Amino acid sequence: MAGGAHFDGGTTKDYPGKLTGFVLLTCIVAATGGLIFGYDLGISGGVTSMNPFLKKFFPSVYRKETADTSTNQYCKFDSQLLTAFTSSLYLAALVASFFASYVTRKAGRKFSMLAGGIIFFAGAALNGGAKDVGMLIAGRILLGIGVGFANQSVPVYLSEMAPARYRGMLNMSFQLMITIGILIANLVNFGTNKIVGGWGWPVSLALAAIPAAIITVGSLFLPDTPNSLIDRGHDDAALNMLRRIRGTNDVEEEYKDLVVASNESKKIKHPWANILKRKYRAQLTVAIMIPFFQQLTGMNVIMFYAPVLFKTVGFGANASLYSAVIIGVVNVIATFVSIATVDRFGRRTLFLEGGTQMFICQLIVGTMIAIKFGTTGEADIPKWYAILLVLIICVYVAGFAWSWGPLGWLVPSEIFPLEIRSAGQAITVSVNMFFTFGIAQAFLAMLCHLKFGLFYFFAVWVFIMNGFIYYLLPETKNVPIEDMAIVWKKHSFWGRFIDDDQDNNGKPPHTPEV
Ligand code: BGC
Repeated sequence: MAGGAHFDGGTTKDYPGKLTGFVLLTCIVAATGGLIFGYDLGISGGVTSMNPFLKKFFPSVYRKETADTSTNQYCKFDSQLLTAFTSSLYLAALVASFFASYVTRKAGRKFSMLAGGIIFFAGAALNGGAKDVGMLIAGRILLGIGVGFANQSVPVYLSEMAPARYRGMLNMSFQLMITIGILIANLVNFGTNKIVGGWGWPVSLALAAIPAAIITVGSLFLPDTPNSLIDRGHDDAALNMLRRIRGTNDVEEEYKDLVVASNESKKIKHPWANILKRKYRAQLTVAIMIPFFQQLTGMNVIMFYAPVLFKTVGFGANASLYSAVIIGVVNVIATFVSIATVDRFGRRTLFLEGGTQMFICQLIVGTMIAIKFGTTGEADIPKWYAILLVLIICVYVAGFAWSWGPLGWLVPSEIFPLEIRSAGQAITVSVNMFFTFGIAQAFLAMLCHLKFGLFYFFAVWVFIMNGFIYYLLPETKNVPIEDMAIVWKKHSFWGRFIDDDQDNNGKPPHTPEV
């Protein structure tokens, strides 16, 4: 175990209570916040490849694409203008997550989810009825703000509501909704692409209003988390809520710990200055590196460009869309694997297994493309070869879907103490959005220049991130969220950053029963 470099989870405390139907329901409703992000991730690639959409909003791109007769498959689909449009959403989300962190801390997690839903709804309406590029971009910015608010508040909400023993499972329902959103969007595009008369794109864009309505209405009925209620001075309501979600009156110990955490939190007026303190170096590093690495797995290259990639290796337009749908299905199903295992096997096991699986697949895909396309980018590949390639990409997607996908949202949301949890999550969202934007923007140019080496490029990153997890990420399974400081304190590397009197929210440290 890496020279004792990590703390092997176990339980610090085991509060009484069970997984109640009520907490399950609230978590499922809150997780639907992931649908809006997923729908957007899945819809834009398809819409921006529809000719009527291009003709109306990006005529220059359309002309260029139809005039392009080059046979070099690596450099075929390059249009920065279009990717800039797609990516504007991620930049808006990046900025919005900082505002969301303030709202989430001051007004509660529920309020941010509601705000996210309403703003996303407005964006969908504007986009569906867009008459010019201005409306289109304004709509995308609103969608981005909605995503920023939802992604900042939902993971924190889920991690706080869940009993420690089921936190991984419940939090991952967020990622499950993201993957369902992506799949639905792929199917919608598949259908609207067939609409004659050129009005497929507004249907695809306007349908985003449905997931927006689900999270908006859903969040109206959601209770706030006990942690946030105490933090905002509603102690009685918090105690009642805790009893309700744990299904027992015996919540004294957990309640007391929440109050201690909240007292610490109240002393902090400036979470942003606080998060930079030496004692939070571990959490801050993880909150930045996890979303950065998640994007450097290269998953979004597959998500955004699967149809393009499959066209590149010789599938027809329809077959490419089918393959994208197959990948979407694999993504959803494989997410269940991590939901079922994360609280038993732990975060580290899933991270390391998924990472290894992705690494091997990337090497194979890179090599298979190298063998056929070489550096000229010209090839005629047999059907069986293309099918094999899709199969290996599916194994890669499964690896992501039970590791970096869900864990990329779970881990950052469960490692911070209450006073800086909102700020920490905003950092995670913004880093995630920044690199989602960066990869989307750079992919086509990278494919053109790195060619098959693009897959080796991501493989190297996956190798590095496995090392990061192995040496620097302690196991957090089953540890109560307001007790998390002990995990960092026990870690042989990160422990050095924490003085004895600073750990565990000022509470005396207690020894974990492993
Ligand atoms: C990531 C997205 C990705 C999706 C794929 C999410 O966790 O943040 O960037 O597209 O998973 O399922």
